Amino acid sequence: MARAQSRFVCQQCGAVHPKWAGRCEACGGWNSLVEEAVQSSAPKGLAAGKAKKLELAGLGDGGEKLVRRTTGVGEFDRVCGGGLVPGSALLIGGDPGIGKSTVLLQIVAGLATSGLDCLYVSGEESLDQVRLRAARLGVTGAPVQLAAATSVRDMAASLDQAGGPKIVVIDSIQTAYIDNIDVAPGTVSQVRASAQELIRLAKARGFTLFLVGHVTKEGMIAGPRVLEHMVDTVLYFEGDRGHQFRILRAVKNRYGPTDEIGVFEMTDRGLAEVTNPSALFLAQRQSPVSGTAVFAGMEGTRPVLVEIEALVAPSPLGTPRRAVVGWDGNRLAMLLAVLEARCGVQIGARDVYLNVAGGFRISEPAADLAAAAALLSALSHEPVADKTVIFGEIGLSGEVRPVGQTEARLREAAKLGFLNAYTPPRNGGDAILRVAEIRHVRQLVERFMERGDGGATVTPVRQRQAR
Ligand code: TYD
Ligand code: MG
Repeated sequence: MARAQSRFVCQQCGAVHPKWAGRCEACGGWNSLVEEAVQSSAPKGLAAGKAKKLELAGLGDGGEKLVRRTTGVGEFDRVCGGGLVPGSALLIGGDPGIGKSTVLLQIVAGLATSGLDCLYVSGEESLDQVRLRAARLGVTGAPVQLAAATSVRDMAASLDQAGGPKIVVIDSIQTAYIDNIDVAPGTVSQVRASAQELIRLAKARGFTLFLVGHVTKEGMIAGPRVLEHMVDTVLYFEGDRGHQFRILRAVKNRYGPTDEIGVFEMTDRGLAEVTNPSALFLAQRQSPVSGTAVFAGMEGTRPVLVEIEALVAPSPLGTPRRAVVGWDGNRLAMLLAVLEARCGVQIGARDVYLNVAGGFRISEPAADLAAAAALLSALSHEPVADKTVIFGEIGLSGEVRPVGQTEARLREAAKLGFLNAYTPPRNGGDAILRVAEIRHVRQLVERFMERGDGGATVTPVRQRQAR
């Protein structure tokens, strides 16, 4: 039977199709199929002659190999789970210009200065450009070995030897290519094959491999999702380019927790660590204003206090606008529905804007209560009580559910000078702050709507139904 000579691979999801189509059937992406030559035929059967028996080992054997190398950048080590593991592969994704190359150059410069053999392979920038960046960062004295290369064959030739570098950075994996694969660099097959070869080398030679990956418009690492499966650790570098700080987030980590973040600030001399992020996300304000609430959140093991701002305005449109930055839009819709249906707060016909200050992104459901407070405060023009932090998850019936790590949140708030807290019902324990336990959102509504000035009136649900 004649074999198909080419196949079509979706550049977004990696699905393989026998025929070209405008739309990938697997992921629905438009115009994402690229033709590729079929490389080799699948094995017909397992030739027993070539096989050798598996080498078996116990779980306890060879454990001493997993010694982590700390980079000296505390925020980075935290995200990696306490340092770099030899033989592991890390993928760092992020928007263009967010600072991936900068942070990696700083890290290898630090490691090289401490005596480790480091190699930085740039596929995007010329050596002079990398040197220029190094000069800007003030690390020209670090003994980092530089190379401008894109061919994985060349890289392998210099890496596949004993006594090679201990840390290798490939910036970026989208520029790497293997010359016997007949498609352009950056395509799924190239990225996958290049990464596979480099990761294999990293495991065989015991160096730590950093791969820089571009992200697509949708915010995923460009090319195949499989890349995320192949590496040991996936880090995303995020942040708003309009803001100074950047957040490094672990989304997958075989050697550590995934809910940690590292916070950096982009200065004119590279990225600086931010060890107390809470101070950064809180606006310095003399007098309280309405429409803001401070959320005591957790990022991994670390408490982070952020300010949530809300604006509620009369809507000139038939369909009111809802705009959210830094939080989930669906979560806001749910919250507005709960406020309206369970507490009678008439907010549905107004424009609602919600913003998390400082370009931070909140993913915790525990932010519900703080967002509700910001909304109610904006609606009533009544500021949230001074020096108050808020957290708690709101259920569809309006009840406030407990969230984890209450004590850590309260301790961080106390450290930053807060005096009061609105929390979900707690089961005992001494509180460091003056705590008001909120069992139902209605209790929160009462705190804002009592005076009812600013035209905001609360109509109890029962009364409205009777009308
Ligand atoms: P870069 O590391 O090149 O981003 P990526 O590799 O993710 O594409 O970051 C470049 C951006 O950072 C650029 O917009 C300039 C800014 N920058 C500084 O503000 N200070 C610095 O010291 C450096 C090196 C870059
Ligand atoms: Mg770069």
